[in-house]
Amino acid sequence: MQFYATASSAARQRSACAIVGIHENAEMTGPARELDRASGRAISRVLRRGDFSGKTGEALPIMGGLRGPAERVLLVGLGAKKGYGPRAYRRAVTVATGWLAKSGAANAILYLPAQPIPGLDAYYAARLAAEVVAATLYRIPDLKSGRKPPQPKLAKFGIGVRSVDLAGARRGIRDGRGIGIGMALTRDLANLPANVCTPSYLAGAARRLAKEHRKIRVRVLDERAIRRLRMGSFLSVTRGSDEPPRLLVIEYFGTKRSAAPVALVGKGITFDTGGISLKQPTAMDEMKFDMTGAASVFGSIKALATTGAAVNVVGIVPTCENMPNGRATKPGDIVKSMAGKTIEVLNTDAEGRLILCDAITYARRFKPRAVVDIATLTGACVIALGGHYCGLFSPDDKLAAALAAAGERSGDRAWRMPVAEEYSELLKSNFADFANVAGREAGAITAACFLWKFTEGLRWAHLDIAGTAYLTGSQKGSTGRPVPLLVDWLLHGD
Ligand code: BES
Ligand code: MN
Ligand code: ZN
Repeated sequence: MQFYATASSAARQRSACAIVGIHENAEMTGPARELDRASGRAISRVLRRGDFSGKTGEALPIMGGLRGPAERVLLVGLGAKKGYGPRAYRRAVTVATGWLAKSGAANAILYLPAQPIPGLDAYYAARLAAEVVAATLYRIPDLKSGRKPPQPKLAKFGIGVRSVDLAGARRGIRDGRGIGIGMALTRDLANLPANVCTPSYLAGAARRLAKEHRKIRVRVLDERAIRRLRMGSFLSVTRGSDEPPRLLVIEYFGTKRSAAPVALVGKGITFDTGGISLKQPTAMDEMKFDMTGAASVFGSIKALATTGAAVNVVGIVPTCENMPNGRATKPGDIVKSMAGKTIEVLNTDAEGRLILCDAITYARRFKPRAVVDIATLTGACVIALGGHYCGLFSPDDKLAAALAAAGERSGDRAWRMPVAEEYSELLKSNFADFANVAGREAGAITAACFLWKFTEGLRWAHLDIAGTAYLTGSQKGSTGRPVPLLVDWLLHGD
């Protein structure tokens, strides 16, 4: 998709489809009024007849009886004028793109942000539009046999803005396009089934990233190298699987080599059966998404490389399967982490923290200015926050605030939860330095506190994306989150 910004008016700019917003009670926005005059009052007629009310989610094409520069006009509902903001805007762009994808229009121009949107400046309005268009046109890797669905004709997407907003909109388009491309990579990797997307497959995907982008360097560590690093905790998870583990290191150099990188550590469990603490069969297929943290590291780095962002990032991805076999780790087994701390594995289904703690320890050698781990870590986080906010944990108030703010700005939100000694104490063990699980209570927090024990002296935060990484049911599939949050923070956070 080619995106561009234009400052010429809806009344003059030629296009296959002009998209304009209508507020509730059939109230036209400025660009709608301009286009209405240029099109021989085609919009007024529709509104007068009561065919369109302007509720959010509403979309109505006007295809015939049009004069003026647009072959088609698409009305989209913006909802009540009072309270209009990013959510209604996002919804309108989604609905418009959904209609365009099924239409024969090869290009379109969106005239929503021609007026300032409360809570979105020109940069964010354009960025969000580009991201949402890309995300709406995304299609799951096609593993169905038979006839291929028709490809959308839409190839060019313009964003109409005021001339004072052109520069901001252009930057927004650049970043939104990059985020869209990054999210598509995250979603592709996460949507692939676990018999395709194995740890070795992820290693191949990392190598492809390095081939595509000059500023990316990749190293792949195999089981022997992981053993040499003494990652006993990581290795305890892969023991029960026939699929070999990998540790992936993906470096993006967007600025001078000497600048300290941000480390992104992503949970890469390509399938989580629970191991000997076997999961219930219901929805176990969804545990192919248990590598979404890793996929979001790939996607964020892809986005940064695409936009040419001036930051250094190192992605660290421990990846393996969690399977039960005759050699698998058993409840009660004690393992030694790379940091030297011993762990009693009371539940082999709490495996994410076991691979992440060693990856966080490994991150230290890059002297990172911050470490953020991203993981589908706990079902408890899904219970706590559902699918709208991911869990954000950090003992560092400034880092937590910066990540939460990035989530707000990008519409990819995170809610802060506590890390505190009182919860860490619940991880005590009679036999090892600590256990890998506590009781049923505060499961998302005790998981975060387990990781916290490995972060001394680091500026660290943890994102639990178990609820936001993918949708279930008929909409089943990866969401591409939290790529927008991470990229926003890396571009504009501290
Ligand atoms: N990958 C799961 C967490 C998960 C659950 C993600 C549901 C998405 C949806 C993780 O490895 C896990 O199994 N966690 C356990 C921890 C428990 C044993 C302390 C859980 O949440 O049940
Ligand atoms: Mn598990
Ligand atoms: Zn898991």
